[in-house]
Order: sequence, then C-alpha cells, then structure tokens
Amino acid sequence: MLGIYRPGSAILCGRTSSCPRHFSTRASSTALHFYQNRQLELYASKDAQRLTLRQLVFFGRSITEERLIKSANYVRTELPVRIAHRLRDMQTLPYVVVNQEGVASVYEAYWSAFDKFRRYPEIKTLEDNEVFCKFVRGLLDEHKTVIPNLSLGLSLSSPYLEPDRLDSFMHRMLVSRISRRVLAEHHIALSRYFSARQSGQRIPEDRVGVIHLRLPVKDNIEKCARFLRKRLCDADQDQIDGASAEAPWPEVIIEGHLDIKFSYIPAHLEYIVFELLKNSLRATRLKHTSLRQLPPIRATVVAGENEVTIRISDQGGGLLTPEIKNPMDQFSFSHLRNPARMDSRRLVALRSISSSQTGMVATVEEQVKRWEREADSEDPQQEAGVSPHPKIGIGLPMSNIFATYFGGSLELVSLDGYGTDAYLRLPRLGTNLEGIELW
Ligand code: COI
Repeated sequence: MLGIYRPGSAILCGRTSSCPRHFSTRASSTALHFYQNRQLELYASKDAQRLTLRQLVFFGRSITEERLIKSANYVRTELPVRIAHRLRDMQTLPYVVVNQEGVASVYEAYWSAFDKFRRYPEIKTLEDNEVFCKFVRGLLDEHKTVIPNLSLGLSLSSPYLEPDRLDSFMHRMLVSRISRRVLAEHHIALSRYFSARQSGQRIPEDRVGVIHLRLPVKDNIEKCARFLRKRLCDADQDQIDGASAEAPWPEVIIEGHLDIKFSYIPAHLEYIVFELLKNSLRATRLKHTSLRQLPPIRATVVAGENEVTIRISDQGGGLLTPEIKNPMDQFSFSHLRNPARMDSRRLVALRSISSSQTGMVATVEEQVKRWEREADSEDPQQEAGVSPHPKIGIGLPMSNIFATYFGGSLELVSLDGYGTDAYLRLPRLGTNLEGIELW
C-alpha cells in the first residue's frame, strides 16, 4: 500500500489532512492517506483541458444563463485537475525541498483547495453560481502569498536542486497558477457582467471577462510610464534606488505602430511593461548620475501579422554583472545562475511578504481588479495601486511567464556597458493554447 509514495514524497498527516511537515507512518492514518492520495492520483491522471484566448472570448461573448452555469462547472471540475498535477509534482521533490519553509505552506494551501474543489457540488442555478463565485474569490485571496512563499522556499532549496530541475519546476508551478487564476477571474468577471446586464446596467462592449478585445498598446505603455514616474519619484524609492532625490528621470518615447489594438488580458501586458520600464528607468538613472538630461527610453511597438512586438531600449548600462553572465539568467530561480537569489536582504523581504496577509503587490489578480476599477479613472490614488514591486526579484521571471502563457516570448539582450533591449512578443490571433503542462 505504501508503494504509492515515491521516495522523498510527503506522507499526509491525519491531523492536518495535508501537512507534509508531519511525516507520519502511523497505521491508524494509513487508510486515510491511501484514500486521499488515491483521489489525488485520480485527478492527476486526467489531462488539463487547455483553452485558447479565442475560445475564452467566443464562449463568454454572448453569455447566457446556461453558458454561465457551464462555465462555473468547467472551473469547478478543471481547477482540481490542474491543482492535482502540481501537488503530484511537489510530491516528487526531494523531501528537504517540500519540507522547506514556504514550500510546505504552498503544499498545504493547494491540498486544501484541491479537496474543497473536488467536493464542491454541481452548480445548477444562478444562485448556486453566486455562492460559487464567493467561494472562488475567497481562495484567490487566500492564495495571494503563494508566489513569495514559493520563491522563498525554492531559494532556500536552491543548494539541493540542480538549476534546470529547479527552474522547470518553478516554471510549471507559476504557469499553472496563472492559468488557474485566469480561469477563476474570468468566470467571476463573466458572472459580474451577466448580473449587471440582467439588472439593466451598461457593460463595456470591448470586454469579455478579463479580456480586452481592443487593448490599445500605446495607452497601456503610457499608463505604466505615467505612474511609474509618480511612484519612483517618492522619497522612499529614491533611497532604494541609491540615486539622489533631485536626479532627473529619463523620458519614455513611444514610437512605431501607435494605433495597434489587439485582444489580450490587459493585466498581463501591464505587468510586463511595468516591470521592463521600471528596470529601464532605474538603470538609466543610476548609470548617468552626473547628467542633467538623461538618454530617453524608447518603447517601439510593431504590429506584425501574427504578433505584436514591443521593444524597450534603454541606455542604462546593460544587464550583465560580474555574477550574471547570461541576461536570461535573470529569469532563473537558482542561486547558481543568479546569486541574488540567496541574498539575505531579499530573503528577509520575502519572509515578511510571505507571512503577510496581502502577499505580493501587483500580482495578476490585483492587476485585473485594478484595471477594472481604474478603467474610467485617472485617480492617482487608484493608480498607485500598482505599488512598486517589493525588491524580491520576482518581476522579471514573472514577466517571462506571463509572456509565454499564450505562446509569446520575452527576450533580454544586454549591450554591455551601454544598455538593454527587451523584446516582448505577444500573439495577436489568440489561437495558441495555454502553455501549461498537460500532466
Ligand atoms: C492559486 O492562486 O494558486 C490558485 O490556484 C487559485 C485557485 C485555487 C482559485
């Protein structure tokens, strides 16, 4: 019977029903463990039903009660499959890793969510759906600390995992998380629009759930630049930057195909552009401390037939440091590729974010909510909702994952001693399947 546990896998503890920290072989709980892991195996043996952006749009475009209920049941049955895959993945990690601070709490949170979803009864009416949306919203909020927790746990585990294994594990965890949150947020947004329409309110014609059908790229870049300036001009930020408060900020010039609009999830584009511009602004300012007029940052937008490319070029000196030999190592979670992962200040920051209730600021879910809130608002307080990312070094790897989710890419080219070119390519047609693992 115990053969179902792989070497290094956690045996579930009867008390918490899911806790890998309580490694127990007590006979009394063996039957429970066996039953629970059998449930996990059952779900993990199913393939995820991956979707394209276009499918999400077509299904949600003319939403009816019947379709909304169908969408709810899709989320109800699909999410436990996707979570089960990741739990299974975590069980294959060496015990020293799954038992690590941060990783253990993510395992617990996922087990609990998996168990709740698999027991959730079928949704049959609009009232059922309302309750279901609240349930999902609760889980979305509970899981806000997952990324800092994982990042902390995997940084601490870095000495025990070979870099390729560590990075591919993190990649699967993070892409899968984005996918689950997109499905959950999309369904909640569809439900909100549906009930708003039922009660005679006007709903934006260019939105389907979390997708903007005509997302104006130039406006999005301008928006990020505008409030990055505002945020980075704060005294606190100047201290973090190490530049003096009086130092000027470079201009952001947007050029190329300025009229391009395409269907995409605004929060994803915004997250990436925000992160790239933030890095460029800081690097340029720090590189040219004696200049009164700083070289501008150029954001070039190109609308290709199949993809939209945004190149962000700065003269901030490039990405390479004595420790980082390859710019793409900025995406790595392994300290062997990116020594900053084991930096003690970063670990302290991660610990405090992981244990807070709010988790990381400017994660996709917050961006989705914020985008909706701010759609018609230029209120600076609202805009300040995109607080600068805490210095936990997660922005670039997350941007890479957002870019690849629907088949796009993010490439960083370092012109050493001069500057950096970041190439973001996002698919235009919406026909790529979500880039998640099938197992
Ligand atoms: C996550 O945030 O990691 C999730 O899986 C959210 C989902 C349970 C709604």
